[in-house]
Amino acid sequence: MKLGLILVACILYGAECRPFSEGGRKGGFNKLLLISFDGFRWDYDQDVETPNFDQLVKEGVKAKYITPPMITMTSPSHFTTITGRWIEDHGVVHNMLFNSTTLLKITHKATMKRSEWWDNGALPLWITAQNQGLKTASFYYPGGGVNYSGQAVDRALVESYGMPDDNETEWQENIDTVMRWYTQEDFDFVTLYFGEPDSVGHSKGPDTQERKDIIKMIDRTLGYLKRAIAKHGLTDNLNVIITSDHGMTTIKKEKHDPTVKEIILNKYINFLQLVHFELVDYGGFGMLRPRNGKKQDIYNKLKNAHPNLTVYMKEDVPENFHFAKNSRIQDIILVGDLGYNLNSRAIIYVNKGDHGFHNQEMDMKMIFRAFGPDFKKNYLASPFDSVNIYALMCKLMGVNPAPNNGSLTYTEDMLVDDFDNLHPTSPTPTETGTTTPAGHGERNQMSLALLSVLIFTMSCLL
Ligand SMILES: *[C@@H]1O[C@H](CO)[C@@H](O)[C@H](O)[C@H]1NC(C)=O
Ligand SMILES: *[C@@H]1O[C@H](CO)[C@@H](O)[C@H](O)[C@H]1NC(C)=O
Ligand SMILES: *[C@@H]1O[C@H](CO)[C@@H](O)[C@H](O)[C@H]1NC(C)=O
Ligand SMILES: *[C@@H]1O[C@H](CO)[C@@H](O)[C@H](O)[C@H]1NC(C)=O
Ligand SMILES: *[C@@H]1O[C@H](CO)[C@@H](O)[C@H](O)[C@H]1NC(C)=O
Ligand SMILES: [Zn+2]
Repeated sequence: MKLGLILVACILYGAECRPFSEGGRKGGFNKLLLISFDGFRWDYDQDVETPNFDQLVKEGVKAKYITPPMITMTSPSHFTTITGRWIEDHGVVHNMLFNSTTLLKITHKATMKRSEWWDNGALPLWITAQNQGLKTASFYYPGGGVNYSGQAVDRALVESYGMPDDNETEWQENIDTVMRWYTQEDFDFVTLYFGEPDSVGHSKGPDTQERKDIIKMIDRTLGYLKRAIAKHGLTDNLNVIITSDHGMTTIKKEKHDPTVKEIILNKYINFLQLVHFELVDYGGFGMLRPRNGKKQDIYNKLKNAHPNLTVYMKEDVPENFHFAKNSRIQDIILVGDLGYNLNSRAIIYVNKGDHGFHNQEMDMKMIFRAFGPDFKKNYLASPFDSVNIYALMCKLMGVNPAPNNGSLTYTEDMLVDDFDNLHPTSPTPTETGTTTPAGHGERNQMSLALLSVLIFTMSCLL
């Protein structure tokens, strides 16, 4: 009888009632925090003391490494994580916004407020989750600050110019802000971005003391995060995924190694005569738009020009790059061997480390860690492609995924065995992620219907 009363009370209180969940949020799912440390190579914690990362191995899930999409660049890779789509499919094909007709180029930071670069039809998880009743936010995460089909992320902070990436006090303040978003404003999903260790990897190189110092700082910040989660009472209802967008490798320079012959493209082609638009001097990946009728000429001249340069016609880019089938991809694609920057006319480029190289190079692989109430403890996961993180995030939040290129197959084993019992209305996304959306509203209606049946059954028994 007492149970009957509780159930009746629940019905009267309506959709917010959660008789089957223990302290979870709407529908019994836990909150989620996705953290990206830009350019955190998979092995960066192995040559530095990282007590908090080490502790995390015992308390959660670690994949030895995960693989970013081709090409291994910041905006394209972050957008694959948040959409579950390959780069050719989501269309954010470079850090820079460009137009190969008008020759317009806009810097990475400036694209963060340009919807036309990001909004190509693939909906990021913020928007899909919002459309299913969740509250979401982006703290500096690439792509969070623009509109998708006219919809903005509920709350988005976009990084301003000229801010140092390595201010530990600011990192802690940012974590506090995010904690308040969860506890005081009931946000369900937040993405939090840090510009390190990418900056130090570029400016000093990955194999330097400076990079190690930043990893120690990140490790302390992880400790701060864990204390903040406990302090805000979120330990039992916040899942956390920590990952990155690509690794980092030392740029090969002749002055350090006389056997290295740096790639300088205008030794082989005359840019003025042959090239209409170029996107090079930006690490190991580049694109050229030939002048009319010059495509074959450029290809022939570059094809065997340098032993460490691979040249593709757009139509010959390997299918498994999942990269070339997009109108933004230019006719000629250039990829340098690991550590070989693509210089156009001279070596104006000063970075000591970079990325953008082939995603199967170990130096391009990145970290994956996860912890929280829904993750197993002390669990070592097999490496997987980052395109699959999306399906995992949907599963964790009970969000029906938008069509995507990922699968739960690679990540499902990270979840506690009774995940589906703990979150009984959890949808089961299919391999292709094409399940018909059933929002939280619908799910609540289903629980109410279930309750009615229960009450009916009980009143019959009583
Ligand atoms: C490039 O700019 C031209 C001229 O403004 C425009 O017609 C075209 O659609 C643009 N291309 C892309 C890919 O945005
Ligand atoms: C997003 O849409 C809102 C409302 O239409 C507008 O005020 C805002 O400027 C847009 N943001 C971007 C980045 O285009
Ligand atoms: C670091 O961040 C704190 C807090 O936001 C700020 O007060 C301080 O000025 C910053 N330091 C630098 C060097 O920017
Ligand atoms: C560069 O090319 C040379 C000659 O083919 C090859 O021996 C070397 O391994 C290449 N370097 C890299 C980093 O792949
Ligand atoms: C990626 O997913 C989209 C959306 O479902 C689909 O249109 C596209 O064909 C997929 N790409 C691959 C390579 O499967
Ligand atoms: Zn990056």
